[in-house]
Amino acid sequence: MEKKSNHFSGQLGFVLAAAGSAVGVGNLWRFPYLAAKDGGGLFLIIYLILVLTFGFTLLTSDIAIGRRTQKSAIGAYTQMRPKWKFLGILTFLVPVLIMTYYAVIGGWITKYAVVYVTGQAQAAAADDYFTSFISSSTSPVIFALLFMGVTAFIVYNGVEKGIEKVSKWMMPILLVLVVVIAVYSLTLSYTDASGQVHTGWQGFLYYLKPDFKGLTVQRFLQILLDAMSQLFFSLSVSMGIMITYGSYVKPEVNLNKAINQIEIFDTGVAFLAGAMIIPAVYVFSGTEGMGAGPSLMFISLPKVFSAMGKAGTFVGILFFVTAIFATLSSCISVLESITANCMEIFHTGRKKTVLVLSAIYLAVSAVIALGYSIFYVEVKLPNGSVGQLLDIMDYISNSVMMPFIALLSTILIGWIVTPYYVIDEMERSGDKFRRKKLYRVMIRFVAPVMMFILFLQSTGILF
Ligand code: PFF
Repeated sequence: MEKKSNHFSGQLGFVLAAAGSAVGVGNLWRFPYLAAKDGGGLFLIIYLILVLTFGFTLLTSDIAIGRRTQKSAIGAYTQMRPKWKFLGILTFLVPVLIMTYYAVIGGWITKYAVVYVTGQAQAAAADDYFTSFISSSTSPVIFALLFMGVTAFIVYNGVEKGIEKVSKWMMPILLVLVVVIAVYSLTLSYTDASGQVHTGWQGFLYYLKPDFKGLTVQRFLQILLDAMSQLFFSLSVSMGIMITYGSYVKPEVNLNKAINQIEIFDTGVAFLAGAMIIPAVYVFSGTEGMGAGPSLMFISLPKVFSAMGKAGTFVGILFFVTAIFATLSSCISVLESITANCMEIFHTGRKKTVLVLSAIYLAVSAVIALGYSIFYVEVKLPNGSVGQLLDIMDYISNSVMMPFIALLSTILIGWIVTPYYVIDEMERSGDKFRRKKLYRVMIRFVAPVMMFILFLQSTGILF
């Protein structure tokens, strides 16, 4: 094995950094929304089954490939099969695109944290607060640059002294915060004008209870595809990030255990995010109040916090600090993956690479942050939605490239290098790879078909 200077110190450091990448806005603003939309417990069950089969397969492949090749996406795919270098390049391009807008979202979250800390909870709940903030030509840029700068600083400090060190305190605190807010959410209650009492507990049951009403084959398929696309965005797979992180894992680490822990952490936080958000929204806005994406975090939730009265400011602070941690640790992983690939391609050192990339991304983040003011565009995307710059980047990377890359990589591993490439790595330290049979069937047969369907659906060709 080639000697690498970058390593996580051990299993815990790796698991927390990888969980940091996995836990992000996807857990906080997409999972709860999908669960509420797609039949509560029904979505939860489907998601759980998919995590244990499909998610496990993709996560295992990425991490094992990383550790076996000791390289990032481009180098790893080239090492596996030189003719497949193009897949490495495509994979590398996903974080390159995501990085253009991730710090912008991080900046929005930081701005809201500042708003709550400075006691402006009521102002943030106003109808047009978010729109007027993102369409300003200064504030979103300043916060995006700040977020980008902090991310770059951590990556600049290296794998163990930067990424691992930060993840080791940020992720446990994040976990405690989501638990605290979820417990608080369950205790909420509100009596509306007609005298009806709405409780957090009712909201929680609404979240947990499988809703089979109006379930048709088409709806079931839709739920399945929603869960699938959420899952691999959430686990940060098929974008080379877990390949890079896998390449930093020492040979003696038991990958089986580490992968289980990453899955449990990511799914656990997604579930808890639902438990903190759905009951709170349910109590104050009913089942119609759940928005998706930014509208949930920046429009619906501030209204909920404001309805909580004095406690709302405090809960708002806790919530946006949680969201900063989640987004920062993901943003770090995106920049790290780009950095690692560039270091391998250009044979440059970490510090120089990070400095050059930071300069580029500070400029690009500023442009994307201005996508709601100076650089406003309206583009009709193939899936039917109309998007601005940020949505376009998000659409290309997540809806088009990721499923396509996952499809090609399952074909490469399943049929060309064969699943033993991954299985041998999983058993390298003498550990038993318990889900070996499942892995083989999934990577060769099930995952390619599922990825093909998901690709057709997310590009708008199907449905
Ligand atoms: N996995 C993160 C989430 O669920 O929000 C999102 C993410 C992280 C996406 C890192 C992309 C990425 F490169």
